[in-house]
Amino acid sequence: MLQDMEYRNWISEHIKINTEFLYLNRQDILDINLSDEEITAMTKEGMVAYSTKNAEMPAKIGIHPLKDTLMHAMPANMTTLSAAGIKWGCCFPDNMPRFGYNQTTCTLILNDYQSGACIAFMDADYITRVRTAAVALLSCQKFARQDFKSMGMIGCGIQGKQQVAMISRAYPQIEKIYILDRFEAAMDALIEECQQFTKAEFIKADWETLAKNSEVIFSAAYIPAEPNPQIKDEWLNKKGLTIISSDCHTHYEDVSIKAADKYYCDSIEEHELFVTYGLYPQGLPEIDGETGEALADVKPGRENDEEFIFINNVGMAVEDIVVARAFFDAALEKGIGTKLPL
Ligand SMILES: NC(=O)c1ccc[n+]([C@@H]2O[C@H](COP(=O)([O-])OP(=O)(O)OC[C@H]3O[C@@H](n4cnc5c(N)ncnc54)[C@H](O)[C@@H]3O)[C@@H](O)[C@H]2O)c1
Repeated sequence: MLQDMEYRNWISEHIKINTEFLYLNRQDILDINLSDEEITAMTKEGMVAYSTKNAEMPAKIGIHPLKDTLMHAMPANMTTLSAAGIKWGCCFPDNMPRFGYNQTTCTLILNDYQSGACIAFMDADYITRVRTAAVALLSCQKFARQDFKSMGMIGCGIQGKQQVAMISRAYPQIEKIYILDRFEAAMDALIEECQQFTKAEFIKADWETLAKNSEVIFSAAYIPAEPNPQIKDEWLNKKGLTIISSDCHTHYEDVSIKAADKYYCDSIEEHELFVTYGLYPQGLPEIDGETGEALADVKPGRENDEEFIFINNVGMAVEDIVVARAFFDAALEKGIGTKLPL
C-alpha cells in the first residue's frame, strides 16, 4: 500500500484535496465488492497495530440520547497506513419496531494524512457489519477449539447473519447451529441467508438449549444500559467453551464471566471507560490481554482443550479506518462514488 506523500500524490490524481471529497453511499460501498478475506486481513492489521502500539486510538467517547441507545465518536490514526479519520457509530435498539430499519447506523470521514482535509465521507453500515464479523472470526481462530462441531448465535440480525455466514464458511465441520432471537422472522431470515454456506442443521433454540449445547457461543443482540443475563451459569458447559461477544456482558451472569480461565477484550482502555458508563455494574473481571495481542502472538490464545475462554470485543475505530481506506482506494481505482465540493 502507498504511504506518506506518495499516497497523497496518488489521491490528488483523483480528487482535488481541500476543494472536493469523495462521497460513497450505501450502494457504492457494496459495488466496490471487497472480499471477506481482504476485509478480515485488514481488520486483523488494525487490531494488531492497536495492541502493539502502532496506532493511535483514544477510547470512544459517547452520548446516549434515549434509554439503551448510544452514539460513539471513534477516531483512529493508522500510522502504518497513512490513514486517519473518524466513525460516528450509532445504536438505537428499537429502530426496527419504531422505524423499520436497522439499530446500527454508521457514517465515516477519512482525512488527508498530510493536511487533515476531508477526503471522503461514506456510509459505514456495511464496513461495520463486515469488520465486526471479521473480529468474531479472528477471535474464533485464536481462542476456540478448532474442532468444534456446534455453535450458538444470539441475535439473528445484521451481525448474526454476517457472523454465521463467515464462521460457517470457515468451519465446514460444524454440524449444529443453535440460533436465538426475539423474532421468529429474524431466525427464519438467518437460516434462509446462511444455509447455502453450510451443511449444518439450524436449530431455533431457547436460552437453555443454546447454552447447554454450543461449544462456541457468539452474540450480537443488544446492549442494555445494564446487563440483563438470560443464561444461567449452570447451563454453560465450561470445559473447552469459548464465548465471543459483540454485545458486552449482556447475556451472562457475573459469576460466569469471572469463572473464565482467560478473559480477553479488544481494548482494555475502552472497557475501562465503559465501566464509567455503567455497562459493567459488577466490575470487569481480571483481563488477561487484548485480542490483538493474541493475534500478534505476543499473548497466548487457547492453550489446551479444557480452557473456558470469554472474549469481549466492543469494536474499535482502527478496524473501521483501515477497512475504510481500502474501500476508498478501491473506489478511486474503479471510479465509484460522487465527487462533491467542500
Ligand atoms: N462489537 C462491535 O464492534 C459491534 C459492531 C456492531 C454492532 N454491535 C452490537 O451488536 C448488536 C447487534 O447489532 P446488529 O447491527 O446486528 O443489530 P440488528 O438489529 O440487525 O440485530 C439484532 C438482533 O437481535 C435481536 N434481539 C434484540 N434484543 C433481543 C433480546 N432481548 N432477545 C433476543 N433477541 C434480541 C433482534 O430481534 C435482532 O434480530 C448491537 O448490540 C450492536 O451494538 C457491536
